[in-house]
Amino acid sequence: MKLPDIIIAIDGCSSTGKSTFAKLLAKELGLVYLDSGALYRAVTLFAQEEHLISRMNIIRPELEGALRSLPLRFSADNRTFIGDRCVEREIRTLEVSAQVSPIAALPYVRNFVDEKLHEFGRQGNVVMDGRDIGTTVFPDAQVKIFMTASEQVRAQRRYDELVAKGENPVMEDVVENLRQRDYIDSHRETSPLRQAADAYVLDNSDMTLSEEIAWVKGLLRGKYTIYD
Ligand code: CDP
Repeated sequence: MKLPDIIIAIDGCSSTGKSTFAKLLAKELGLVYLDSGALYRAVTLFAQEEHLISRMNIIRPELEGALRSLPLRFSADNRTFIGDRCVEREIRTLEVSAQVSPIAALPYVRNFVDEKLHEFGRQGNVVMDGRDIGTTVFPDAQVKIFMTASEQVRAQRRYDELVAKGENPVMEDVVENLRQRDYIDSHRETSPLRQAADAYVLDNSDMTLSEEIAWVKGLLRGKYTIYD
C-alpha cells in the first residue's frame, strides 16, 4: 500500500494493544514507528537509577536539569536507548510502569519528550502511539485513531506480556497498575489522555490483529487514493 506523506497518531489507555498494532501498521505501510511511551518509560528508569524519585513517588527537582543531558534515542529496529545502552527490557517492567505516570504528568518532562518526538517525526511518514499524540504532539496528524478495549482484555494482555518476558506478575497488581495509570493519565493538567474530536475509535476487545489492520486499511482507502 503506497500512501502520501502522512502522520498516523494512535492514542488510548494502557494495554489497548497500541504499540503492537502501530508497529505492524508501520511495517505494512512502509512508515517509521515511534513509541512515545517508551520515552516516558526511559525518563522514569533514569529517574529511578539516579535516585531522583522515591518509593512514594516524590520527584526531586534536580530531574529537570538532569534531563538536559539525557541522550534518548531509538534504533532503526525500534529499540529504546539511553546513549549506547539498550534499555528496552528495563523500561517495560512493572517497577517502571508503577512510576511512569507521575513522571509523565510533569510539564517539563512532557516538553522534553515532545521535543524529541518532533525531532524524530520531523520528516513525516510516521506512525506514533501514546496518550496525547493526536491532541497535543501532532494535532494536525492526517489520521487519528483512538484505541479502546475492555479492562479485562487489557489486563490479560499486559499479564501475558509480562509472563512472556519472564516476569512473575500478580494479576491484581497488573489491574491496579492499569487503573492507576489510566486515572493519572486522564486527570493530569498537561495534555491529559483524551480522544481527539476527529479521531476514529477502534475497540479491539474482540478483534484479532489482522482484523485491526484490515479495519485501518479500509479507513485509509476511504480517505486516500491508494496503490497496492
Ligand atoms: O504500554 P502502555 O500502553 O501500558 O503504556 P506506554 O504507551 O508505554 O506509556 C507508559 C506511560 O507513559 C503512560 O501510562 C503515560 O503515563 C505515559 N505516556 C504519556 O503520558 N503520553 C504519551 N504520549 C505516551 C505515554
